[in-house]
Amino acid sequence: MFYSTEEFSICMTMEYRILGKTREKISIIGLGTWQFGDAWGVKDYNVAKSIIEKAVELGVNFIDTAAVYGRGLSEEFIGKALKELNVRDEVFIATKLPGDFLSYEDVFRATEKCLKRLQVDVIDLMQVHWPPAWHNFPTYEYMRALEKLVDLGKIRYIGVSNFPVEMLESARNCLSKVDIVSNQIRYNVIERDAEKELIPYAEKNNITVLAWSPLAKGAVTGKYTPDNLPEFTDVRRTDPIFHPDNFKEVYRVVEVIKEVAEKYNKTPAQVSLNWLITSSRVVVPIPGAKRPEQVEDNVGAAGWRLSYEDWRRIEEASRNLRITRVVW
Ligand SMILES: NC(=O)c1ccc[n+]([C@@H]2O[C@H](COP(=O)([O-])OP(=O)(O)OC[C@H]3O[C@@H](n4cnc5c(N)ncnc54)[C@H](OP(=O)(O)O)[C@@H]3O)[C@@H](O)[C@H]2O)c1
Repeated sequence: MFYSTEEFSICMTMEYRILGKTREKISIIGLGTWQFGDAWGVKDYNVAKSIIEKAVELGVNFIDTAAVYGRGLSEEFIGKALKELNVRDEVFIATKLPGDFLSYEDVFRATEKCLKRLQVDVIDLMQVHWPPAWHNFPTYEYMRALEKLVDLGKIRYIGVSNFPVEMLESARNCLSKVDIVSNQIRYNVIERDAEKELIPYAEKNNITVLAWSPLAKGAVTGKYTPDNLPEFTDVRRTDPIFHPDNFKEVYRVVEVIKEVAEKYNKTPAQVSLNWLITSSRVVVPIPGAKRPEQVEDNVGAAGWRLSYEDWRRIEEASRNLRITRVVW
């Protein structure tokens, strides 16, 4: 362990980190719920409910969703489950507005729909899912709408997702009373571009980095090999990580992760997630799960730390990966 204990508090095995510059304690392992919908295939409400129930039982208090996940289905499942389980107050709900819903009026309209689907009076964290790439909404337009929603008590905090540093700075400059608390970006032991610019900026400015695809969509869990790739019926169909040429490279890192996992009596998924939280004090991975057992496994990434030597071993193995996105 090479972070001082002041940097995190430990409650049983779950640990909590402070969200941005707030006083909110969020679990160091969150729950991603893109899985609820067509993209990943969890369409049975009871399965979704069992995943949420297991997560809350194990101390996960941060649930990430988005208006686009299953076109509202993920939010609906979460709203219904939290109500039935009577745990709304134990959970910090983070959702997102797509880059297409960012005109001033649409921010209000879309937020009202999220509130309804989630069956809540207030959303804890509203994130801009991606910048409005081709719509040309000025940043100040949607940031002012979001700040107004904070004023009116409909959302508590504002976050962004997939924002480069320049846009994040510009978004922060458009806010007059509150600050951006988080940037949700892809970060896993294979895809580490966030380390170049985004994570240092977040560390300097106390902004939480919510790491999406922290398991590289399952690629680093050890269950897939170059001869046993996932069935391409879900979002992985077009993901370059699983292209056979790339996956051969990825698997060299997975083999190191597997060796380290054996040494600690942990699973490769736990080591992969632990590597992320050990790498930076502002990172909070939000792995997705298709079954409660996967939640249980992922939560086991908290409450311990890789040694410096083992962290380095994985770092070195992944640093010079030769993977390309130019696969067609
Ligand atoms: N902001 C954004 O633009 C953005 C983009 C992507 C995702 N996200 C968020 O980030 C969350 C996580 O990312 P993700 O879903 O792309 O990928 P991920 O968390 O890296 O991988 C999730 C997949 O890995 C497998 N898995 C999970 N836990 C496992 C375990 N312990 N052992 C073995 N396999 C396991 C499951 O699929 P199989 O069992 O089928 O292998 C699961 O669907 C999403 O749910 C979403 O909330 C946000």
